[in-house]
Amino acid sequence: MLDEISRRRTFAIIAHPDAGKTTLTEKLLLFGGAIQMAGAVKARGEQRRARSDWMKVERERGISVTASVMTFEYENRCFNLLDTPGHEDFSEDTYRTLTAVDSAVMVIDGAKGIETQTRKLFEVCRLRDVPIITFVNKMDREARDPFDLMSEIEDGLQIHVTPGSWPIGMGRDFLGCYDLINDRLVLMDRTLGDVASEGLECKGLDDPRLDQLLPAHAAAKLREDVEMARGLMPPFDLETYRAGHMTPVFFGSAINNFGVQELLHGLAAYAPPPRPQPADGRLVDPTEEKVSGFVFKVQANMDPNHRDRIAFFRLCSGHFRRGVKLKHSRSGKSLAVNNAVLFMARDRELAEDAWPGDIIGIPNHGSLRIGDTLVEGNEELRYTGVPSFAPEMLQRVRLDDPMRVKHLRKALEHFAEEGASQVFKPLSGADWVVGVVGQLQFEVLAARIEAEYSLSARFEGAGVDAARWIECDDPVVLKTFIDSNRSALAEDHDGALVFLARNAWHLNRTQEDFPALRFLKTREQNRKVETTAA
Ligand code: G4P
Repeated sequence: MLDEISRRRTFAIIAHPDAGKTTLTEKLLLFGGAIQMAGAVKARGEQRRARSDWMKVERERGISVTASVMTFEYENRCFNLLDTPGHEDFSEDTYRTLTAVDSAVMVIDGAKGIETQTRKLFEVCRLRDVPIITFVNKMDREARDPFDLMSEIEDGLQIHVTPGSWPIGMGRDFLGCYDLINDRLVLMDRTLGDVASEGLECKGLDDPRLDQLLPAHAAAKLREDVEMARGLMPPFDLETYRAGHMTPVFFGSAINNFGVQELLHGLAAYAPPPRPQPADGRLVDPTEEKVSGFVFKVQANMDPNHRDRIAFFRLCSGHFRRGVKLKHSRSGKSLAVNNAVLFMARDRELAEDAWPGDIIGIPNHGSLRIGDTLVEGNEELRYTGVPSFAPEMLQRVRLDDPMRVKHLRKALEHFAEEGASQVFKPLSGADWVVGVVGQLQFEVLAARIEAEYSLSARFEGAGVDAARWIECDDPVVLKTFIDSNRSALAEDHDGALVFLARNAWHLNRTQEDFPALRFLKTREQNRKVETTAA
């Protein structure tokens, strides 16, 4: 079991759109032998898209809305790569996916440096001290000075940086990189269509072979740069990296396959195997015998002909065997997991065995929700840290045919369970309020409501600016609050009480009036909810 756990690397790639995440994913999968040909990730995407109508939005916009999981092997390591949607409107999904990884690769465009989405995603990783390896991409184009880029990462993200490799030239003059951790010179082979050479082991930077292989000025600049970099930056330290306080930086060009193998070596050697996971009251160690884990994503209606849903389940402890009986912590019910799937990059296969760090897909009819814990045996275990974020945009949803309100309710509940949106049912009034993180999600929802439920619905202004979950330890204060604010209160799909503020002033004012109440911007998905607002 220890062997299986220690060879797992469960990670995600975070990047601002266009930095090269898809390209890098593809090259990683190529090295891992998981795909045969470059272009397969996109091709696979096309196939998947063709299956589902609502993804028209995805296709039209050229963005990737849904996350998926890809498993591949390399150097006796088993990598689980969790794809995260790049578009900023879908960051909530991304945030949750990041709760299921043990490390991340941050891709930066060498010409652009840190961009808004890079920063946001980095902050999420930092919240959980997720260790990050940085890949500065597109070095085959005119990029910024490596010192500049590194100090931007250090100052902008407040993390120690250390060079993992050092670029030799850039743009048209990009010759390759010197691998500073393993002392190897890797050159870009222009004769073989700009791919990486095998790499040459060197005896440090003074190795005279550098002078034979590199033009004199390039060898001199490399030595000078590295001496300066080593003087300015701390050496790589495994513990500091694994604690999330240091990022080794690799340079390369994903499209030319350059630097990708070094990155993969870096991941294999340094990225942490599955870590203990926080649950209510204790940390769960991956080596524990009993199987346990949590759902971080639910994808519904992947096939419009079947109302199936796949719950993406991160295994945190124990050896999963097909058919194992797991207790569903929220309902207390037991379920035998017979038909779970593993996501090999080329296909899905039935999960006979899985180990901590692995992601399995459990088909279900709506019983599994984001944040749910499943555990073997009787322990009252609940994993923490899978958040629901207060939506930043709220709209009312109106049906063209009011007779079909029940169908609409079902659709909205499905989407809420899937985490695609949040739905609030006002305590007084009939129209549901739907909350999302970005405007684009409304378009996706309207398209899905039409395609999957044959309903024609419109979203319109709700006069609501912010939603906050309410918590209060004093039932008397809570009752007074509910009685005096009924028109601004709603329940979420779990029956938790939510305050819908008209604007910032309304929110502040109410907070001042009820100092004993907590107005929460996030809510743990897996809490048992006492319905307070009956
Ligand atoms: P994303 O998933 O992060 O959004 O980025 P993606 O990989 O789709 O890459 C964005 C664009 O950058 C693509 O060009 C891609 O070919 C290019 N690119 C990726 N890596 C490198 C690199 O190392 N060097 C250079 N020069 N370009 C790179 P595109 O024209 O938008 O798309 P496509 O038509 O090439 O697919």
